[in-house]
Amino acid sequence: MPEGADGYWSAMPLPPPGPDAHVLVTGASSGIGAAIARSLATRGYPLLLVARRADALTELAGELRGLSGLTAEVHTADLGTDDGLDTIRDIVLGDERIVGLVNAAGYGVTGRVADLAGDPEQRAALDGLVRLNVLALHDLTVAALAAFTPRVRRGGHAAAVLNVSSITAFQPLPGTASYAASKAFVQSFSEAVHAELAGTGITLTTLSPGLTRTGFADAAGTDAFDKAPDLVVGEAADVAEAGVAAMVAGDRTVTPGLVNQLSALGGRLAPRSLLLPAIDRAMDAFGS
Ligand SMILES: NC(=O)c1ccc[n+]([C@@H]2O[C@H](COP(=O)([O-])OP(=O)(O)OC[C@H]3O[C@@H](n4cnc5c(N)ncnc54)[C@H](OP(=O)(O)O)[C@@H]3O)[C@@H](O)[C@H]2O)c1
Repeated sequence: MPEGADGYWSAMPLPPPGPDAHVLVTGASSGIGAAIARSLATRGYPLLLVARRADALTELAGELRGLSGLTAEVHTADLGTDDGLDTIRDIVLGDERIVGLVNAAGYGVTGRVADLAGDPEQRAALDGLVRLNVLALHDLTVAALAAFTPRVRRGGHAAAVLNVSSITAFQPLPGTASYAASKAFVQSFSEAVHAELAGTGITLTTLSPGLTRTGFADAAGTDAFDKAPDLVVGEAADVAEAGVAAMVAGDRTVTPGLVNQLSALGGRLAPRSLLLPAIDRAMDAFGS
């Protein structure tokens, strides 16, 4: 693996698996995060699994140990709280075995903001969404770069981050405004940092899935997934495989599936004066 003139490793993605090449995955108790953990374990990476539900993480850890014979540690934490985030940040900063971070924890809230604003539970869900999808992801990404950079500069192995965004990142979305805005943050931040990291030996990849069959719809309180044609609803295993392949390669970004790629392109290019009222009406038709 070539070393650049500046002493940095050049264009190196996630290093090969081994006892010192652990990956920490948030949101590993279900859906895309769990599928990413399976994909990484299959490739031979020992894992640190993070989420709130200890039972689901423990079950997955057992499955992964059976699958690969590798370590899968369980770390329960609510990343929407200061305590939970402090705990996981300390692990990212202090555990020298970690060469990869996957930020998959996240959830959505559906409904018009003005309707949600007066309900204390919904209001708390909106605030929690921003804390988890934006603040926790940003915090752990920055912590990972603080931990990885001196190690890679000392000539240690390369390192990689995978941040889970969404095709909702590519245009504002009436009916799920805070969620789409949180993913626009993830997409913009992650792509910019990917460019900043060029030639450092550290990569940051953004995974931007479309509708995917997971626990997401229940958590977001939407039945849109049931109403959407099968063609546009992906499987978590396929999304995870695309994300892990891109992370291993050190790619900037990946949007799995042609329909999702076209949707992302349309969201970027369509005039917002036409797009936003149309989405608002579509959200009503789909039951948000
Ligand atoms: N499904 C889709 O259609 C879709 C599309 C695009 C992007 N995404 C993104 O994909 C990522 C994974 O979502 P998913 O679809 O796999 O949904 P999911 O099955 O509901 O998984 C969400 C994960 O986040 C964890 N989580 C939620 N709140 C947390 C908290 N406060 N602290 C720590 N962990 C927390 C959950 O674990 P616990 O409940 O155990 O804490 C769970 O492991 C999210 O970032 C989501 O925005 C999903």
